[in-house]
Amino acid sequence: MSGDNLKWWQKTVVYQIYPRSFKDTTGNGIGDLRGVFENLNYLEGLGVETIWFNPFFNSPQGDHGYDVSDFRSVDPVYGTMRDFDELLNEIHNRNMKIVLDLVLNHTSDEHPWFKESVSSRENSKRDWYIWRDGKKTSGRKPPNNWKAIPGGSAWRYFKNTDQWVYFHFLPFQPDLNYRTPEVKKEMFNTIRFWLEKGVDGFRLDMLHSIHEDAKLRNDEFCLKLLPSEKNVASLFRKHKYDLNLPETFDFAMELRKVMDEYEPERFLVGEVFGTVEELAKYYGPNNNGLHSVFLFEFTSTAPSFKPRKISRVISRIEKALPPPFTPTYVYGNHDRDRYISLINRNIQKAKLLATMQLTLRGIPFIYYGEEIGMSNVDFKLKESQDPIGQKFSFFPIPLISKLIGFSLTRDRCRTPMQWNSELNAGFSVDYQIKPWLKVPETYKKINVAKQEKNPSSVLNCYKRLLKTRKANRSLQEGKFEFLTQNGLKKKCLAYRRYYFNEQIFVFLNFYKKEILIKSPINDPNLLFSTLSNRVALDLETYNGNIKLTPLEGIIFK
Ligand code: NOJ
Repeated sequence: MSGDNLKWWQKTVVYQIYPRSFKDTTGNGIGDLRGVFENLNYLEGLGVETIWFNPFFNSPQGDHGYDVSDFRSVDPVYGTMRDFDELLNEIHNRNMKIVLDLVLNHTSDEHPWFKESVSSRENSKRDWYIWRDGKKTSGRKPPNNWKAIPGGSAWRYFKNTDQWVYFHFLPFQPDLNYRTPEVKKEMFNTIRFWLEKGVDGFRLDMLHSIHEDAKLRNDEFCLKLLPSEKNVASLFRKHKYDLNLPETFDFAMELRKVMDEYEPERFLVGEVFGTVEELAKYYGPNNNGLHSVFLFEFTSTAPSFKPRKISRVISRIEKALPPPFTPTYVYGNHDRDRYISLINRNIQKAKLLATMQLTLRGIPFIYYGEEIGMSNVDFKLKESQDPIGQKFSFFPIPLISKLIGFSLTRDRCRTPMQWNSELNAGFSVDYQIKPWLKVPETYKKINVAKQEKNPSSVLNCYKRLLKTRKANRSLQEGKFEFLTQNGLKKKCLAYRRYYFNEQIFVFLNFYKKEILIKSPINDPNLLFSTLSNRVALDLETYNGNIKLTPLEGIIFK
């Protein structure tokens, strides 16, 4: 038994929209809020229920919206507050939900608060950011040895006051100081501002770095160059004093209190890094912290296409976050390589992974374009629009980024949505207009219009999956259990979801060979197969066994 009265966010499927790249209705080559409005039929038809928007607030766009200069506004690049209100209304009219991206950790250095703060040591907003004297024993030196995430010192020097300001990400994104009560008050009121408009939740940008050690102690050495999903240590630093501090876990609970002031229930999902076990702390000891967090360890494991490895991560997730805690299952976002590229654009594999994602116990997040199999696009670092790509543009060859398994420009996964086979994939109102990022030539084959007509397309596979999920409560609300009996474990990844007396089985064949499996129930009824033309399980033909063709995934009950 499980799942009594699960909340909307526990059952939902989230679709992430990078507004800049979804649909341009003004003809400036940049996507906008109206572009989303005009495509709500598409999203509703796809079957997703919640839309998460990357930041569209006023911003110099140095980091494409993650450098906010006014948290309560809509940047003219994306439209007006009226566009937003209309969009929100229409999303709600369709019984869908809307989640915004909240950048609590830092502001743009063009934010009026920072302009004040930087102006003098005595300014009333000085303590809104983290200012310190440098170490002066041997010339000008930053206050400690902390590293920013993309590399280099985490401190920026300002001559006018002869002090350094702390930033965790890029130098133009100074961190807010949450040890200053007014900062917290102001940001919590900003949250209320959007909640009062009716927003259903927030994705919390870099929440794990909200607090830094009060004494700003030097970070400890660690023999690790690059960060991994499991271990935040990188650039030879442990990140012991700037990430996942106890105060940050408490902060999650404070945020939850703000959310709980509102009815119906709102939703918080944190962008945080660490092991599943450590991240579980963000949920709060009594489930009174964040509603959920991204579990990127799974994100990087899924494309390995190794069922044993994948099932180990899922087991750890289930163990660390048993019901009523709700995990997330994410394959991509605006910072990472697209998963279809990581599996060499193999459509069958993509369908299998989608089947897994949409049937596990947790909240699936679909990144725009995944549903049509959009892949990475190569860019020269020198031409990068992404500030990270620009920072590394001295790298001689993209090969290096391949070697280290990291893409150095996030432009690769942010290209315009491929709507149709017209020029520029029909991204802009006038197809002649050059989009802000180039569209790959493959758009002529990989686009919404084309795939809508093809029953065996990736798009139609996602649609059928989402329909199956919606029609079966066990898939949305049921408990999860791996099936290992009868040697199943060796043959495929198999699990069941169960809710009261309903149970649903998912069998995923990760191998390129056909397999026969004994059915766990009498008279199984096929609900879905990655093969669009498969209508039944035909047990009689296979001596009472279920046949799975290579790379096939099925759902039955
Ligand atoms: C994480 C976001 O996902 C990324 O796109 C952004 O650049 C940084 N945080 C800084 O806000």
